[in-house]
Amino acid sequence: MLPKLLLLCILVSSFIFTTHSYNKKCLRHQEILLLQLKDELIFYSSLSTNLVRWNESSECCKWYGVECDASGYVVSLQLDGEGIYGGIGDSSSLFKFNYLQKLNLAYNDLNDPIPKGIGNLTYLTHLNLSNAGFVGQVPSEILSLTRLASLDISDIYGNHPSLEQQNLEMIVQNLSELRELYLDGVNITSSDERRKWSHNISPYLPNLTVLSMEFCYLNGSLPKSFWHLHSLSILRLDYNNLSTLSVHDLFTNFPSLAILSLVDCQLKGSIPSSFANLTKLIHVDLGQNFLSGTLYPTLFKGLSNLTFLNLRQNSFFGNIPHSLFALPSLLVLDLTYNQFNGTFRLDTLRSLANLTTLGLSHNSLSVDVGDVNSSSYGSLQLKVLDLASCNLSNFPDFIKKSDLEQLDLSGNRIAGEIPSWIWGTQLEFLNLSSNLLTDIQKPYHIPPSLIFLYLSYNQLRGELHLPIPAESNLNSLDLANNKLSGSIPTSLLNATRLFSLDFSINNLSGSIPPGLLENINVFDVAQNNINGSIPDIISMDCMLTYLELSHNNLEGKIPKSLERCRSLDFMNVRNNNINDTFPCMLLSTLSFLALRFNRFHGELTCQESWSGLRVLDISSNNFGGRLESINFSTRGAMMLNNLTGTYVSQVDITMKGIDLELLHIRKDIAIIDFSHNNFHGEIPNAIGDLNLLFHLNLSHNALYGSIPKSFGQLKVLESLDLSANQLTGQIPMELGELTFIGVLNLSYNKLVGMIPNGRQIQTFPVESFEGNPGLCGLPLNIRCSPTGDNDNGLSPRGHEEKKEIEWEYVSAALGYVVGVGIIVWLLIFCRRFREKYFGKIEEVVEDIFIARDMRRRRARMVARNRARRQ
Ligand SMILES: *[C@@H]1O[C@H](CO)[C@@H](O)[C@H](O)[C@H]1NC(C)=O
Ligand SMILES: *[C@@H]1O[C@H](CO)[C@@H](O)[C@H](O)[C@H]1NC(C)=O
Ligand SMILES: *[C@@H]1O[C@H](CO)[C@@H](O)[C@H](O)[C@H]1NC(C)=O
Ligand SMILES: *[C@@H]1O[C@H](CO)[C@@H](O)[C@H](O)[C@H]1NC(C)=O
Ligand SMILES: *[C@@H]1O[C@H](CO)[C@@H](O)[C@H](O)[C@H]1NC(C)=O
Ligand SMILES: *[C@@H]1O[C@H](CO)[C@@H](O)[C@H](O)[C@H]1NC(C)=O
Ligand SMILES: *[C@@H]1O[C@H](CO)[C@@H](O)[C@H](O)[C@H]1NC(C)=O
Ligand SMILES: *[C@@H]1O[C@H](CO)[C@@H](O)[C@H](O)[C@H]1NC(C)=O
Ligand SMILES: *[C@@H]1O[C@H](CO)[C@@H](O)[C@H](O)[C@H]1NC(C)=O
Ligand SMILES: *[C@@H]1O[C@H](CO)[C@@H](O)[C@H](O)[C@H]1NC(C)=O
Ligand SMILES: *[C@@H]1O[C@H](CO)[C@@H](O)[C@H](O)[C@H]1NC(C)=O
Repeated sequence: MLPKLLLLCILVSSFIFTTHSYNKKCLRHQEILLLQLKDELIFYSSLSTNLVRWNESSECCKWYGVECDASGYVVSLQLDGEGIYGGIGDSSSLFKFNYLQKLNLAYNDLNDPIPKGIGNLTYLTHLNLSNAGFVGQVPSEILSLTRLASLDISDIYGNHPSLEQQNLEMIVQNLSELRELYLDGVNITSSDERRKWSHNISPYLPNLTVLSMEFCYLNGSLPKSFWHLHSLSILRLDYNNLSTLSVHDLFTNFPSLAILSLVDCQLKGSIPSSFANLTKLIHVDLGQNFLSGTLYPTLFKGLSNLTFLNLRQNSFFGNIPHSLFALPSLLVLDLTYNQFNGTFRLDTLRSLANLTTLGLSHNSLSVDVGDVNSSSYGSLQLKVLDLASCNLSNFPDFIKKSDLEQLDLSGNRIAGEIPSWIWGTQLEFLNLSSNLLTDIQKPYHIPPSLIFLYLSYNQLRGELHLPIPAESNLNSLDLANNKLSGSIPTSLLNATRLFSLDFSINNLSGSIPPGLLENINVFDVAQNNINGSIPDIISMDCMLTYLELSHNNLEGKIPKSLERCRSLDFMNVRNNNINDTFPCMLLSTLSFLALRFNRFHGELTCQESWSGLRVLDISSNNFGGRLESINFSTRGAMMLNNLTGTYVSQVDITMKGIDLELLHIRKDIAIIDFSHNNFHGEIPNAIGDLNLLFHLNLSHNALYGSIPKSFGQLKVLESLDLSANQLTGQIPMELGELTFIGVLNLSYNKLVGMIPNGRQIQTFPVESFEGNPGLCGLPLNIRCSPTGDNDNGLSPRGHEEKKEIEWEYVSAALGYVVGVGIIVWLLIFCRRFREKYFGKIEEVVEDIFIARDMRRRRARMVARNRARRQ
């Protein structure tokens, strides 16, 4: 203890001594300049820690952020994070500090181009303008700063200062003393330079030690000369396309590397054995690439200083080498989303007492918790443990010893009770979804730190008690797909930061607690037994964007106060007992509205614009009135190039009496379902303009008149149901031209004449046309007489063509997309997830198109058969 204290004293006193000796006596004119500068700069004094305290009560060389040389001239100004927000003019006092060597303006909000006056500071060796809010072009004056050893003009917050006239090549040519170059997020406007960046840098700056160019849209191949930068110790090129970079050369030529960060660079290849020679490595981040191969045990032998290793989202396979767990300094190890296999014994962790983060999720590993009791682990520093999809069947109870902040055990086979100890005291993220959990051990204390709690897809049962503390940070709660009963806990009212709540598919009853919808964005209680009415919104700034209440017993009306939710985009109340007229007041914000199977009534004559709506399902209510009185032509979002919607959710399509749950809606398709109501009048021509229509169902109404020719323009139509109306006239030729259609039902109308010949229309079953005594032609077994009268002789063609699209197959594919609540949250906040998610959606839609292709093939078959018969 004593020696430690002594050491500390020596350290502290030497620190004081050095700063003292450096801060020489203040020169009066320098002090005046400093005060002028303070006066000129516009800054938030609440954010400032240096500037705000500059005053004459002490010597200016001792002011915070100021350093002078031996003669009393200011040589260093550290004004980072000072809340400076006004621009800095070219004639600012800042540029009168002729001997300034170090200037730091990082992390301010200047929102102006870099001032030309910077060129007067010719003694500068260190210039840090990173994330200072500078915009526009980097001025040519920067080229006069020939003494610069370190230049940082990074901006990763979207300002993107640009290198246009002063291009990269000019900078490296003129500033030949540079050892550290930080250009992250800088807009290198010439595509030629983005391709040749490495050719430009390496000849001029052979002694570079730091190169940081994240988010620069770099690409192109690397020249031999790049591998001569033997002094590089920090290389950060994340988020560029470096697919041609040789990982082998990288690890062979840069022996001094300490920090290597190449996230999302499209790197290919495997980690070569030369990696083991990079003994200075401290931080290695190679996440989100296409690296593969196995990790040989010898790779990590000499890396005694390695603290951070991220190989997340690559394609590494084989066993996780034990040598990784012999790295004495390791703090962070992330191997999630690879193809590692074999058994991993958690007691290996015992040797990594300092490890704070371990990610092994989503591999093909079997993690063996071992039968070690927690006491044998000693104390662990672990804060983050991700073991999702690791074949666990027990809680790894050694973690009792550590106070975790993040725990992901989702997608395992853990059964029984969630133990009390799991909640810890600092937990922020807990994901136990997709296990076999049945109960939550009592008593339990949800710590106020908890932000995300995911327990969906388990077998949790009984009444839900959630003791949510008053200062709770809870943001996202997902308990979907369990067997919970009781009512929605009112303790949730304590979670004032709640963003998203998903209780869907449980057995909850009771009503929605008043006040719960006031602050929340995403609310999903679909498929429970919730009763009562939707509560009124009281606050003026309702944040709801997603309201999913389908399949419950809600009654009453849709509260008018929902109008206050100016961001409400999605509302599904289908299968309830709501007795109301059409909620016109919500039209201006919604893109998705489903009211199916309720007691809605009245007409759809709204003053409000429909232009944002993409999905409108009002089937099976008592709506009435003339269809023509609805102004379809204003439905902007249902038209091409209007890809506005963002939500993915559950829409039901009724076809042939089967309720199919279409678990997604692509944002570029539109749906209208008015079926099973009392609409009358003619079908408006304008529906044909809604060229994103994917599904149109007007069946079981009292519509008359003819089928509009304009339907021929609905090129993405997949299903059309006009059955059980009073439609008359002939089926328009244009309908025969539609090729995308998967389901057609025109039965039980009063249509007459010949079914038009078309590429597909003959492939539909007889049922699509039956109940129209005046129709003739294929596929009906009614020959059209040359005179136009029908000959009702039945031909012997049985039901050979009756096969329908295998919708079960389609819906199984669609069932893949689950967990709407979290997904919406992720969609909003996580770009990577969004990309992946929509990738998945594309897959699902492809499956639909496979079904459609089956129909196409069938169409060709029919055509061949017809040819054969003739
Ligand atoms: C004046 O400077 C001293 C020393 O730097 C500091 O402690 C004090 O808070 C400053 N006074 C004001 C009014 O900022
Ligand atoms: C910068 O230098 C130029 C020319 O050397 C001079 O005219 C100008 O006044 C200087 N600017 C400042 C702010 O000192
Ligand atoms: C980069 O600069 C070019 C040319 O000034 C401009 O068109 C482009 O929008 C800029 N890109 C970004 C991301 O700022
Ligand atoms: C690089 O460093 C070497 C050795 O330290 C030195 O001789 C050479 O001049 C330096 N080159 C440049 C361009 O600074
Ligand atoms: C590692 O370094 C040693 C000695 O510097 C060298 O002999 C060996 O070839 C290097 N290994 C690799 C794989 O580059
Ligand atoms: C690890 O770091 C320490 C302290 O920075 C240093 O003294 C040591 O040489 C490093 N080890 C290796 C193998 O580079
Ligand atoms: C853990 O960290 C402490 C303090 O930084 C250090 O003294 C100790 O050597 C480390 N333990 C291991 C196993 O590296
Ligand atoms: C792990 O994967 C490798 C190659 O992918 C395979 O050869 C090996 O059999 C697998 N081992 C286990 C235990 O599955
Ligand atoms: C809110 O939190 C306080 C303090 O933790 C607690 O006493 C109270 O019961 C909670 N409110 C509800 C509605 O649960
Ligand atoms: C709807 O409510 C009205 C009274 O507001 C009532 O007269 C009517 O019967 C209800 N309709 C249904 C279908 O329950
Ligand atoms: C797209 O929708 C907007 C309203 O959301 C509408 O003004 C515009 O005309 C529509 N564009 C097209 C091409 O339909």
